[in-house]
Amino acid sequence: MNKIQIKTKTKNYYVFIGKDVFESFEDFIPESVSKILFLIDRNVNEKCSVLLKKIKLLNKSKYNLVIHSSEKKKNLITTQHILKYLIENNFDRRSLIVSIGGGLLGDIAGFSASIYMRGIKHIQIPTTILSAVDSSIGGKTGVNFYGIKNIIGTFYQPESVFINPAFFYSLPKIEVISGLGELIKYAIINPKLYDFYKNETTKIFFTKEVSDEVILKSIKIKADIVKEDEKEEKGIRKILNLGHTFAHGIESASNFKLKHGEAVFIGIILALIVSRKFNLIEEERILNFINDFRFITVNKSFANLDISKVVDFMRSDKKNLNGKINLVIPSKEKILIDFPVEEKVIYNVFEELSKYLKKYAIQ
Ligand code: GLY
Repeated sequence: MNKIQIKTKTKNYYVFIGKDVFESFEDFIPESVSKILFLIDRNVNEKCSVLLKKIKLLNKSKYNLVIHSSEKKKNLITTQHILKYLIENNFDRRSLIVSIGGGLLGDIAGFSASIYMRGIKHIQIPTTILSAVDSSIGGKTGVNFYGIKNIIGTFYQPESVFINPAFFYSLPKIEVISGLGELIKYAIINPKLYDFYKNETTKIFFTKEVSDEVILKSIKIKADIVKEDEKEEKGIRKILNLGHTFAHGIESASNFKLKHGEAVFIGIILALIVSRKFNLIEEERILNFINDFRFITVNKSFANLDISKVVDFMRSDKKNLNGKINLVIPSKEKILIDFPVEEKVIYNVFEELSKYLKKYAIQ
C-alpha cells in the first residue's frame, strides 16, 4: 500500500493507494465516531459487490444509502435526501459519512458532510480514475444549481482517502476515457509527466500496473498544489482548472452527454489554441498534443453542440471577473491563470478546433 500525505491549513490527511487498502480500513476510523453512513453509488453497488465485501465495516453497517449519482442528480434535492436520512437516523456531530463512488457522489457526500451540523467527518473511497486523481483530493465539494455546475459548495477536507485501483478495472471505456482527461491535465502542468506519458504511449493508460504509477504521480502533483493554496486564494490552485471553463460549458451545453474528463480533454486543446492565438506557444505544441493523445476519442455528440450555448454557460463560470471569460492557459514557461478573453475569441477557437480535429481525424 502506498500513501501520500495531503497537508493543508485546515487538515493533514493521507491518501492510501493499493489493492490491500481495505484490509486496514477499520483501523483508520477514529474511535470517537458514533455512527457511519455508507453512501454508495448504485452502479458500484451493483457491479463491484465482490470488492465491496472487502470493506468489513460496510458489511456490518446498518446505515447504507445507495444513490443513483448522475450529473442531473448532483443537486440540492439529493443533498436534502442525504440530510434527511442523517436526521431520521439520529446522526450526531461525531458521525461519519463514507462515500463510495465517482466524483459526482464524492462531491455531494462531501457537501452534505460539510453542512450537516456544521460539519461531520467524511472519508472518500473514489471508484473512478477521475475521482481518484482529482475530485476526492483537496476538499472541493459541491452541487449544481440553476443549471450551473458546482455553483454551490464548500472547501471541506476529508479525513482520509482510500483508493483501491481494482475498482478501475471494471470501469466502462467511456469512464476510462473520462479519467484520461484529468490525467492529461497533470501532464500539461508537469512536463516530466508529459514525457513519461509519451515514452510509454498508450499502454500507460490501459495496463493495470502502469496506470497505478500514473495515478500516484498525478496525486503527488495535486498534493503539492493543494498544500500551497488550499482554498484557491493565492491563485496556484487555479492551474488545476486548466481546460475546465471550456469543459464546464461543453458538458452543460451537451446536457451532460459528454463526461467531465472528455470535456476536459477538449477544453485543454481549446486552451492550447487560445495560447497560440496570443502567441504564447508555437503551433507545434498543439499539433504534438493532438498527435500524442490521438487515441483518445471524442464523443460524437460534441459535433452537434450549439457553441452559443457553451458560451452562455462559460459566462456564468465562477472564475470570471469584469464581464470577461477568465481562462487558465498554458504558455511556454508556465500555466497562466485569470487570462481574460472576449467572447469572440471563444467562438474563434471553437472554429479552429474543428480544423485541428479534422486534420487529425479525431472523432
Ligand atoms: N479539480 C480542481 C481542484 O481540485 O482544484
